[in-house]
Amino acid sequence: MTQQHSRPQWWHDAVIYQIYPRSFMDANGDGIGDLNGIIQRLDYLANLGVDALWLSPFYRSPQADAGYDVADYRDVDPLFGTLEDFDSMLSGAHERGMRIIVDIVPNHTSSEHVWFQEALASSSGSRERARYMFREGRGEHGEQPPNNWQSVFGGPAWTQVPGEREWYLHLFDTRQPDLDWRNPEVLEEFDNVLRFWLERGVDGFRIDVAHGMIKVPELPDWDGSQEMIEGGNRGPMWDQEEVHEIYRRWNRVLTEFGRDRMMVAEAWVHPPARTARYVRSDEMQQAFNFDYLLTPWDADKLRRVIDTSLESYSAVGAPTTWVMSNHDSVRHASRLGLSHPGQRPNGIDADGEQPDEALGLRRARALIMLTLALPGSAYLYQGEELGLPDHTTMPARYRQDPTFHRTNGEQIGRDGCRVPLPWRADAPAFGFNTTGERWLPQPESYARYSADRQLEDADSTLELYRRLLAMRHEYGLGHGELVWQESSRSDVLSLTNGGVTLVLNLGETPVALPEGQVALQSATDAISHGQLAGNAAVWLTTP
Ligand code: GLC
Ligand code: CA
Repeated sequence: MTQQHSRPQWWHDAVIYQIYPRSFMDANGDGIGDLNGIIQRLDYLANLGVDALWLSPFYRSPQADAGYDVADYRDVDPLFGTLEDFDSMLSGAHERGMRIIVDIVPNHTSSEHVWFQEALASSSGSRERARYMFREGRGEHGEQPPNNWQSVFGGPAWTQVPGEREWYLHLFDTRQPDLDWRNPEVLEEFDNVLRFWLERGVDGFRIDVAHGMIKVPELPDWDGSQEMIEGGNRGPMWDQEEVHEIYRRWNRVLTEFGRDRMMVAEAWVHPPARTARYVRSDEMQQAFNFDYLLTPWDADKLRRVIDTSLESYSAVGAPTTWVMSNHDSVRHASRLGLSHPGQRPNGIDADGEQPDEALGLRRARALIMLTLALPGSAYLYQGEELGLPDHTTMPARYRQDPTFHRTNGEQIGRDGCRVPLPWRADAPAFGFNTTGERWLPQPESYARYSADRQLEDADSTLELYRRLLAMRHEYGLGHGELVWQESSRSDVLSLTNGGVTLVLNLGETPVALPEGQVALQSATDAISHGQLAGNAAVWLTTP
């Protein structure tokens, strides 16, 4: 027993791979990835060397927001398979030593959820409506929305019930009505949803929009838009004190199943000390570090965000996470090829600045060497191990993100980072399936990034990731300690973590390397005459 307690919990240093099921691997050839596709690729993932997989939603859903609109939290959508397929996927992952994290979307349900259908069919003031945020409209006949809130996806955050004075709140799409998290029935229902998946054997949950479930009771007007300031949402709908009570409650639900299950918060709040409040010892276990994701290609800013993160999270006894990409952001290989890589453009289209693909990839390969040298837990987004860029010229007619449609194309949206993965260079849909069907088009360039080509190439990005992950594991970097090394240049970062020294040159001109044996380098031309080239990184060991 004592031994169990002293063992660090698995998520403290875990490298967690995000699967976006729609675009990972399509086993039945209908153009949408599925659970059987994941099963086919479990060996690939185990071979890559990740500790856990986080799956974006695969629940029953009309797919108005790619599954983040859940109609039944206890079933798999036929698009993705069945509960039995889920169980096989889970045991297949466990057999290979990988844990499974599933996505919980508690802020809103789908408008096709039975609760919302009941609410629409019931009268105002009913128990059915009390599960959501129905309010009378303003104006003589209630013809104006109850307040001026805007949806994160653009347009008003309210939709009127046809023929009524009442409107319902949706921070996202019309088809994603917000639940009322002050209603005990809602709390009880989600306790049981968690238990349902815990009983099936999942190791953790990723909590969607974790900072949005509690709104200021009076629902006051808010003149700030939904635009984020330094990566943080502001306003009476975000980051309210009471939201933490929900996580204390869920923490207790998790402990019914032992001490080995975890939750990770998707909370776009700023600064890190604020995000760290979601991972106090009686709340969640991890939070995505979006400040790191948003940091530009700048040595000083990276160093500062790393220090602030480590400080803020260790102050509450939680591990820091490191995140570079996910299904909501332009992939970092594309971002880092832009003239202002720190921006998080909401998608890139043919009219926008096109990233310098070679530069973006070169920097992405250097950045992962920093990321995996840091103590804590790291999240990888499917395809980044291939160095994938976004599809930055996708024609508008293919776009599916509600953001694009709700803003009449003003916001390009997130489709560009959600494109099906290329598994084989010379196959239909680059091996995503055998039929060539695909829910979003892949750019021609994806042939160059295909997994099969990279598996045969010792200098590929995939091989770099594999070696970095193996060495990170071997040297215990995830539970190591970071010590900055002085560097002669302001555009060069250097640090040690246990037996490994990382040097990252964010500038353009070569820099002299310290003593040490080169273990891994980000590019074949990274080192010459004892110097590290620009936009490159190296891991050294001391002999
Ligand atoms: C989260 C998800 C995003 C989704 C939104 C609404 O931000 O990551 O994909 O659209 O929540 O559920
Ligand atoms: Ca399929």
